[in-house]
Amino acid sequence: MDFENILLAKDGAVARVTINRPDKMNALNHQTLQELEAAFDDVKADNDVRVLVVTGSGEKAFVAGADIGELLEVAGKSDEAASLAGYGQSVFRKLDDLGKPSVAMVNGFALGGGCELALACTLRTAANTARLGLPEVSLGIIPGYGGSQRLSRIAGPGVAREWILTGDMFSAEEAHRVGVINRLFAPEDLEEGTAKLVKSMLNKGPLAIEFGMQAILRGWDGTQSEGEQMETEYFGQASVTEDMAEGMAAFLDKRKASFQGK
Ligand code: COA
Repeated sequence: MDFENILLAKDGAVARVTINRPDKMNALNHQTLQELEAAFDDVKADNDVRVLVVTGSGEKAFVAGADIGELLEVAGKSDEAASLAGYGQSVFRKLDDLGKPSVAMVNGFALGGGCELALACTLRTAANTARLGLPEVSLGIIPGYGGSQRLSRIAGPGVAREWILTGDMFSAEEAHRVGVINRLFAPEDLEEGTAKLVKSMLNKGPLAIEFGMQAILRGWDGTQSEGEQMETEYFGQASVTEDMAEGMAAFLDKRKASFQGK
């Protein structure tokens, strides 16, 4: 698939998807969502890629939301509006199923669907100049790309209520304080800081990382005891990997482990 609205680049084990409609604040129209879907499929299938970074082009926006012009087209059409939300959800859910972590590098406005895209990534870094929020209630709608569910799970229902019911925009500092943003940087340090976070995952066992991600993600949907049962299963799976043998041997040999993802 040729991309018009996004860029997909790979550098060794790191892939980067850049939403590239800077004149529209990188707003997510249908075509951009379709391109994201294809890019996420590509990254999932590429065994050489171990981490995905998602960002926006230009200096102003990560993604300023779903394309409001397209949202207007489904006004008064409940089924079409629901299916538009369902499609966006299915694209973002691909990040859950990527089999490798994704990092949203929030370089500017992350609003509405843009904030939801960042929330769908495994981790989030941000420039301290970025602004985040879920302003859908200002438009008479609610978040439709998973945000009402993910924000609660990431930052708790109190924060989700405040963000979703006020529609206010929040500073990156505030988003960091409440746990929405994992690591915050001056704009000029965002690339380097994000690369450092990515590198700290690249050094580790890829299967262990995948099991850890899945244990947390799937644990969101169940009870503590169901989650612990699942944790034991992943622990069992990890214990028969070559990576576990290598990780333990490297520790005892006082050398750096060389993980193969097997
Ligand atoms: N959908 C469609 N177009 C969008 C957009 C969106 N979500 N966000 C920004 N744009 C477009 C603007 O319409 C404008 O296009 P134009 O130049 O053809 O008029 C362009 O991007 C630049 O935006 P502008 O509003 O002029 O920039 P700004 O710096 O004054 O304000 C924002 C930036 C992000 C605060 C403002 O664009 C905004 O509030 N966007 C909508 C955010 C939102 O409600 N998102 C949730 C959608 S569910």
